[in-house]
Amino acid sequence: MGKVYKVALLGFGTVGKGTYRSITVNAAEIKRRTGLDIEVSRILELKEEAINCGIAPKEIFTQDINDILNDPEIVAVAEIIGGKEPAATFMLQAMAAGKNVVTPNKALVAARYDEFKAAAEKYGVEFRYEAAVGGAIPVIETINRSLWANSFNQVQGIVNGTTNYILTKMDEENMSYEEALKQAQAKGFAEQDPTADVEGIDTANKLTILMAEAFGVYMPPTEFERVGITGVTKADLEAAAAKNCKIKLIANAERQADGTIKASVKPTEIPCDNPLAGVRNEFNAILLRCNMADDIFLEGRGAGQDPTGSAMASDLIAICVELAK
Ligand code: HSE
Repeated sequence: MGKVYKVALLGFGTVGKGTYRSITVNAAEIKRRTGLDIEVSRILELKEEAINCGIAPKEIFTQDINDILNDPEIVAVAEIIGGKEPAATFMLQAMAAGKNVVTPNKALVAARYDEFKAAAEKYGVEFRYEAAVGGAIPVIETINRSLWANSFNQVQGIVNGTTNYILTKMDEENMSYEEALKQAQAKGFAEQDPTADVEGIDTANKLTILMAEAFGVYMPPTEFERVGITGVTKADLEAAAAKNCKIKLIANAERQADGTIKASVKPTEIPCDNPLAGVRNEFNAILLRCNMADDIFLEGRGAGQDPTGSAMASDLIAICVELAK
């Protein structure tokens, strides 16, 4: 057997399990496509119910971050703890230890974008966060690689699964806001504190990241208009329907005539002939208006265990592929 590329997970909650599953369930397919054997060799997790869930072997779990930082065979670390600390410290420590870092932590990436980028450059490692925006949708890779030869005029999207789920259920099934939120939480889409979803904070974090990638402009989420969905009523949805529109929580960033970027997050009436109007439930979508490729519309599952795990695993695999060159 050739070299095995070893990666570690920090946290084994919803996305941790999805990341582990993507790498292990598809190991043969990953090997066929990349030629590489990739193994999750350690998982940092303190909660007994996660360790005993039967998905990963008990012996790879540790409660000590140093078991991962000091293991020279581990080439990449996936931070899936969430929140601010110890997630941020662990990511910076991992970079300082020469390990590539992957995260779905949109709040941290949006708040400390420049700091993490600078640390990755300083230590000569990769910092990847595909799963931070749009769940399974490969939007960061599309902006940064596939559309390399373009300048972006506008980035517009539905990038929060919870709020899209709530608006869809209220609109299509006449469900109450409270019941729809409860369902979104039960399905594992919502943040630990769903205020971040319903007040548009999570969407604003993702828009900050999209703007940094597409326009090269870092605009913190606190510096543009943000309105959540808590004020959207069934009467608003019905009024929109009468105009052949859907109300969606839209993240929008547009290049202005003077070259500056104008950004906002707010419930917006979208005409039914716009593809964003047809994005339902926890699905997300991003419309990229480019000066050469014209419009690119990406849609997929924006939240949930395996879809988000797929994006995390893709980043880990991409790192191993680069190392193998
Ligand atoms: N709470 C987020 C959402 C999770 O509902 O989209 C995925 O980022």
